[in-house]
Amino acid sequence: MSTETTKRQPLLRYWTTRYLLTLFTGLLLIGVLTSFWLRRSAVQRRLVSLKALAAGTAERVAGPGGGLQLDRNLTGEIGRSQRLLGLGTDLFLFIVNPENRIVYSTPDRPPLALLERITIPSYVEEGFQQLKIGPQSRFYILKHTIKAEERWLGAVYVIYPHRQINTNPEEVDFLFFMLGSLAALGWGVIYLLTRHLTKPIQKVAAAARQIVEGDYRQALDPNVRETELYELIRAFNDMTVRLRQLEALRTELLAGVTHELKTPVAAISGLVQAVRDQVVTGPEAQEFLALAAEETTRLQRMVEDLLAFNAFAAGELRVEKTLCPLNALVQEIAAQWLRGQEDRQVKIEVRPLPRDPLIATDQLRLRQILYNLFNNAEQALAAVGKTEGRIEVTFDETKEEIRINVTDNGPGIPPAEQELIFERFFRGAAKKGRVRGLGLGLPFSKMMAQALGGDLYLKSTSAHGTTFTLTLKKHS
Ligand SMILES: Nc1ncnc2c1ncn2[C@@H]1O[C@H](COP(=O)(O)OP(=O)(O)O)[C@@H](O)[C@H]1O
Ligand SMILES: [Mg+2]
Repeated sequence: MSTETTKRQPLLRYWTTRYLLTLFTGLLLIGVLTSFWLRRSAVQRRLVSLKALAAGTAERVAGPGGGLQLDRNLTGEIGRSQRLLGLGTDLFLFIVNPENRIVYSTPDRPPLALLERITIPSYVEEGFQQLKIGPQSRFYILKHTIKAEERWLGAVYVIYPHRQINTNPEEVDFLFFMLGSLAALGWGVIYLLTRHLTKPIQKVAAAARQIVEGDYRQALDPNVRETELYELIRAFNDMTVRLRQLEALRTELLAGVTHELKTPVAAISGLVQAVRDQVVTGPEAQEFLALAAEETTRLQRMVEDLLAFNAFAAGELRVEKTLCPLNALVQEIAAQWLRGQEDRQVKIEVRPLPRDPLIATDQLRLRQILYNLFNNAEQALAAVGKTEGRIEVTFDETKEEIRINVTDNGPGIPPAEQELIFERFFRGAAKKGRVRGLGLGLPFSKMMAQALGGDLYLKSTSAHGTTFTLTLKKHS
């Protein structure tokens, strides 16, 4: 079987690993997207701060008299703004006059490589621009013109290293810390929940194993909060109760069969022994032997029934269907059954269908089924000593099937026995000691009916009579 080759894992590991994987992938994705977004907004913020620094400085140095106001406090003020705006120290700011000469810079000495470029800053336009110096260093350069009363007084340049603008903001660290804790929490929750779920399932599995070993006294405590688990445990407990009942029934039924088979053997042995020991002689001995022969035949028939049933149950016997007119067939079977014994106490009546339908069926099996039903009806009637015993055979026709109803006006089947009559070897209490039999008639008949593509079931039963219905498929 393919299920044997599947690799199995404990529920706990299976779920926790699965869940963890999904959780991690999901959180990682969220983390990457969010950190990307965070970084972008951090860059935006930094650029805005740079602009503010440049604009503030331009305003500060635009002197009212039309000249640049570069006093001693300037460097300190710029440094303060820089700190306030969170721009760090790695920044270079300089101011040019209208002739493009650098008149101020902070820090005082700009890096040499930078200076080469910024001595010709005129090509830089107002606003941001990226500047690449050498293979590794990239800078942002920001230009802000200094104006006072519509006069151009020069420009402020801010040069900021690219790597500084892109540094991992603290928010990203925090984000990953949060996501990490979330993953740990999620994993913990699923671990605990799964462990909680696994326990009752393990209990059911262990109890089921006990049952496999033949111990039917398993009862699980259905005191769980989850509906599904509750249902599982309840169903399991019901199942064990049912198994116990079936086991008890089987023992009882087996005792019944043994008894049925033992009785004739004991009778035969007694009769034969009496003749051999010459307890009886002459014509009486002949009579004893005739009785013994009769018992032998009965025993033989029972054993034959048993063998036939087993053969059929093992699937060794097949049904052979032929097309036959149903009305005529059933009428003939009923007539034959009636003639089968001289002193029949019952009448049998067949009410045929208005149009005799042709139906594909196994005549022999149909005969066996109907004989079983007729015999049961007759025996039920005899048990209560009813003299006007009547068996009625009627038909119902639907689109797909034909139902044959066999009704008697016997004593009916007690409610407690109704669901057991199709059980192998089951015999009603009223019949057990009175009529010999193995209790195989109904189960065998049902099996045959199903092999024919139909079914046999108890339709109704009451103190006024019993109806069994045999269904046959019209087209099969
Ligand atoms: N028509 C019926 N009326 C009353 N009881 C019936 C009828 N048919 C069957 N039964 C009950 O069903 C039981 C099982 O029937 P069956 O399987 O034919 O076994 P058996 O006839 O050997 O007892 C019978 O023992 C009897 O108690
Ligand atoms: Mg029977």
